Amino acid sequence: MQRTLVLVKPDGVQRGLIGRIVARLERRGLKLVAMKMMRISRELAGRHYAEHRGKPFYDGLIAFITSGPVVAMIWEGREAVTVVRSVMGSTDPLKAAPGTIRGDLALDLGMNLIHGSDSVDRAESEMALFFSADELHDYERTADRWIRE
Ligand code: RTP
Ligand code: MG
Repeated sequence: MQRTLVLVKPDGVQRGLIGRIVARLERRGLKLVAMKMMRISRELAGRHYAEHRGKPFYDGLIAFITSGPVVAMIWEGREAVTVVRSVMGSTDPLKAAPGTIRGDLALDLGMNLIHGSDSVDRAESEMALFFSADELHDYERTADRWIRE
């Protein structure tokens, strides 16, 4: 069973899309393990997007992700990292397939609503960056026997 970090970015919060985004992940069968609304500090943003430091879009990306509150979550399920990335759609919403969150709800590369970890290793480090162990919930879901064979 995998876990992955998801953020509803500041544009998703401002546009009133938190519920829709959460609903899409829920209805896929993924299980919500942790969730909080927070303002990302410049320090946290720098660590989270360290791979992009030095790129032309870096300063704008940091300004955007720190511009308002986000909703940070951990989702669990079979192949959760890949499943979340496919539900999100391509980074550029113009190239994202219809039916994906970005393909249905966004238009701009810099306002693409949602973040999801892009590998299992990154998921581990990103979850540790955003959550402490006592913020994660271990619980049984009765619906799981109808989701997992
Ligand atoms: P994210 O990390 O935010 O979930 O997005 P991602 O994996 O789909 O894309 P990534 O390559 O990690 O890029 C992070 C964010 O930077 C912005 N970006 N701009 N102008 C550009 O060429 C460019 N490339 C990336 C996007 O907002 C992207 O979500
Ligand atoms: Mg990324």
